[in-house]
Amino acid sequence: MGISLFIPLLQSLAQTNSQTSNSNFVVRDLNQIFIHVSPNERLIIIALCVVCCIFLKNCLGYSNAILFAWLNSRIGHRLRSGIYQQFLSVSYSFLESQESGKLMNVLASETWRTSQALATLVGLIITTSTITVYVVLLLLISWQLTLTVCILMLVISLSIQFTTRSVKSLGEQAVEANSVLATRMWEGFAGMKVIRAFGRESYEQERFNNVSKKVSHTFLKLDILSGSVGPLSEVLSVILLMCILVIALLQDRSYLPTLLTFIFILYRLQPQVKQLDGARVSLMALTSAVDEVMSLVDRTNKPYIHSGDVAFNNLKQGIYFESVSFLYNGLENPAVSDISIGITQGKTTAIVGPSGAGKSTIIGLICRFYDVTSGKIYIDDLPLKELNLSDWRNQIAIVSQDVYMFSTTVLENIGYGELNATKNEIIAAAKLANAHEFISQLPQGYDTKVGDRGVRLSGGQRQRIALARAIVRNPQILILDEATNALDSISEHLIQEALNTLSQNRTVIVIAHRLSTIEQADRIIVLNEGRAIEQGNLRQLLELDGMFAQLYRLQYCNAHTF
Ligand SMILES: Nc1ncnc2c1ncn2[C@@H]1O[C@H](COP(=O)(O)OP(=O)(O)OP(=O)(O)O)[C@@H](O)[C@H]1O
Ligand SMILES: [Mg+2]
Repeated sequence: MGISLFIPLLQSLAQTNSQTSNSNFVVRDLNQIFIHVSPNERLIIIALCVVCCIFLKNCLGYSNAILFAWLNSRIGHRLRSGIYQQFLSVSYSFLESQESGKLMNVLASETWRTSQALATLVGLIITTSTITVYVVLLLLISWQLTLTVCILMLVISLSIQFTTRSVKSLGEQAVEANSVLATRMWEGFAGMKVIRAFGRESYEQERFNNVSKKVSHTFLKLDILSGSVGPLSEVLSVILLMCILVIALLQDRSYLPTLLTFIFILYRLQPQVKQLDGARVSLMALTSAVDEVMSLVDRTNKPYIHSGDVAFNNLKQGIYFESVSFLYNGLENPAVSDISIGITQGKTTAIVGPSGAGKSTIIGLICRFYDVTSGKIYIDDLPLKELNLSDWRNQIAIVSQDVYMFSTTVLENIGYGELNATKNEIIAAAKLANAHEFISQLPQGYDTKVGDRGVRLSGGQRQRIALARAIVRNPQILILDEATNALDSISEHLIQEALNTLSQNRTVIVIAHRLSTIEQADRIIVLNEGRAIEQGNLRQLLELDGMFAQLYRLQYCNAHTF
């Protein structure tokens, strides 16, 4: 409307109605509205109307921008949250098969680029609608001119498309380069100690620089290409406009008002077309980011550990493995094969065996981080798969081989085991885990931040905090996977005593190399190369005089670890 009103405005300035005789009917009709108003008043009314229209237009534009910013932030948030939920729920084997850096990149950057793609798409719709309105106006003024212009514009658009045809593959390269960069960053941080210890700083710096340069180059190329669209389309369009103006005016000068209106609208249309081209090109560049995000969010192409329906409260008899085998994804040999073992409720069961025998794998199967490849695990007389997963895991506390510390206070790190635990309960657990003393000596005691990955604590200290985290949970089933291997003999002895108290009327599964821990167990399972080769109590195994007895005697003589 703002534009249309310019037509009578132009007519008013011309001061005469005779010129309209040659004009198009749209121009004439608009003039009719003001025919009885004096030229001066007409000028003022029209000027006011134009201001109002433009004001309204900008109000709408601003509301659109705000609505859009809101939508964009919501979409960004929902994508990130969806991907994080995916990380938490997808089967562990899927996460292991992916590079962490790549996953981080999708979560951090590609989600952002995806919401940008959506913004571009909506922009595209708005621009197309605006263009349609303009084109209808143009058609009403002169369909012949419009047709000519449309054909020429199509040619311009196609030539731009031709120059920017490599944008899509560049977009794919950008996603790839970004994810390699994220992997390098991730590995740089995680492996910093190894890098420095082996003096590989310059090697790593070079590797990082190469990847970083690749990212810069790709984005530079992308920007150069995308940036060329605007200038290219503007220059071509202006050439087009000027051609029309000159040719038409050379033929008939009385055509001027209509032609001016036409060109004015065309001039307003031109940035919209430029925007349309620009949006199309950026959308192509962003497609790969959208694909990455969508394939990660997609739940149909990933494995999940599904929870069963049976509520679980109490372990009554025990955990039983029946011919269980398990093969990690991508491995040829099963980590655990044809194992039939029993873990009795209320007793302590030790799992021993050489490194790589499959001990931690068994724990992973009990916690249902993975589902068995064949065979069955029974909890009392129900298959593990039928139990409600969170009920089951709620009754388990595990101190695993690789202790993880969250970057927060010691108190919260221990309290992670039981979110409702009081400070006194946390301190009591720390005392049992023989951690209270060293925690009290930390600068802010229990409120000391243990930093990223708990770097400020020693291996043994972290192990004791992890132990306190498990104790505060007060679980029915306590699993210790080499939970005391980083401790000195005195600390270990103290913890062993605490564990003896803890393990009363509790099902404890302990993986250990030290004799002192194993000797306390009610039952020992010996694993070798994924098979349970011996099981029984200490006396039975010694009588059997197999692998365990051999290693036992060896360690007893050398007073060494198992
Ligand atoms: N996440 C995994 N993906 C693929 N293979 C794995 C994975 N974890 C373990 N394995 C393989 O499974 C086998 C058993 O590993 P597991 O961790 O159960 O041994 P372990 O008895 O706990 O050894 P250790 O005493 O050294 O901790 C090993 O051969 C190992 O290479
Ligand atoms: Mg292990």
